[in-house]
Amino acid sequence: MNKERVLSGMQASGKLHIGNLIGALSNWVKLQDKYDCFYFVADWHALTTGYADTSSIKESTKDILINFLAAGLDPEKCTIFIQSRVLEHAELHLLLSMITPLGWLERVPTYKEKQQELKDRDLSTYGFLGYPLLQTADIIIYRAKYVPVGIDQVPHLEISREIARRFNYLYKEIFPEPEALLTEFPKVVGTDGRKMSKSYDNAIYLSDKPEEVEQKLRTMVTDPARIKKTDAGNPGLSPVYQLHKIFSSKEEQEKVAVGCRTAGIGCIECKKILIKNVFKVMEPIWLKRNELINNPDVLHDIVDKGTEKARKVAEETMRFVREAIGLY
Ligand code: TRP
Repeated sequence: MNKERVLSGMQASGKLHIGNLIGALSNWVKLQDKYDCFYFVADWHALTTGYADTSSIKESTKDILINFLAAGLDPEKCTIFIQSRVLEHAELHLLLSMITPLGWLERVPTYKEKQQELKDRDLSTYGFLGYPLLQTADIIIYRAKYVPVGIDQVPHLEISREIARRFNYLYKEIFPEPEALLTEFPKVVGTDGRKMSKSYDNAIYLSDKPEEVEQKLRTMVTDPARIKKTDAGNPGLSPVYQLHKIFSSKEEQEKVAVGCRTAGIGCIECKKILIKNVFKVMEPIWLKRNELINNPDVLHDIVDKGTEKARKVAEETMRFVREAIGLY
């Protein structure tokens, strides 16, 4: 087995929605056949912004793990684990902090952006500034080559590369410079037509019950100018059509687009087709979720084994690191 290594993580803050499924998870599932993949829940990262209220972190971690498996990650093919269970990430984070100039961290654009966005929280903390450094440790401790992430994470990958380079230069060539694996995927709109996001209250969650999903899709915004069924609509202006483009077959997309433009079908009928197709994708996920929720031991076992495997690699890297630095 000589596959190149891929690593990615998801922060444990909140439930996953179908945007996360289409944008990240489905891609992770594809990668597991071709690469030696490590996927984890970043629960320490959730603390960097959520340290004052930790009441949902455990549930969130568990729900994300369940979704990893329900979406099709296969523990026989990839390594699934929890960040806070592999203490070596913290050790590497500490050692990297010695060689990381403050200015590098202060210049990461997400630092100021997130502070602006979460004005109600005090984010002038050491841990929050170090967010990208912890992420760097997460990545390079597995000497990962590729990191599948969204475009928003590119600045974090850039600093990871710089820090890997700095370590290699100061001590010894240990770390490959990780590369972002950017995936083209359609932006998933939420039920109100804005980008799907848990902060907009417009998301369809993987943990939603079928009735909830149906209800959310049935009441979704359409072309606002199409008021009566006899009005011709513009599918380009309808968020429902955006979802058809992700979930429906080409024939059905064509059918609803023509139907909308010619007032041949109503919004209710159009949404019914969408609901049917979203259900087709969600049904296996719901099934697997229920199975795992009813058998918590299965989940525990998978995570224990994954963590064990991840730790082996992390321990080996740390032996090299301690030696390279010259610790006794
Ligand atoms: N910062 C990532 C996000 O918000 C989560 C994350 C933490 C991560 N550590 C990582 C992603 C390492 C990739 C690799 O999505």
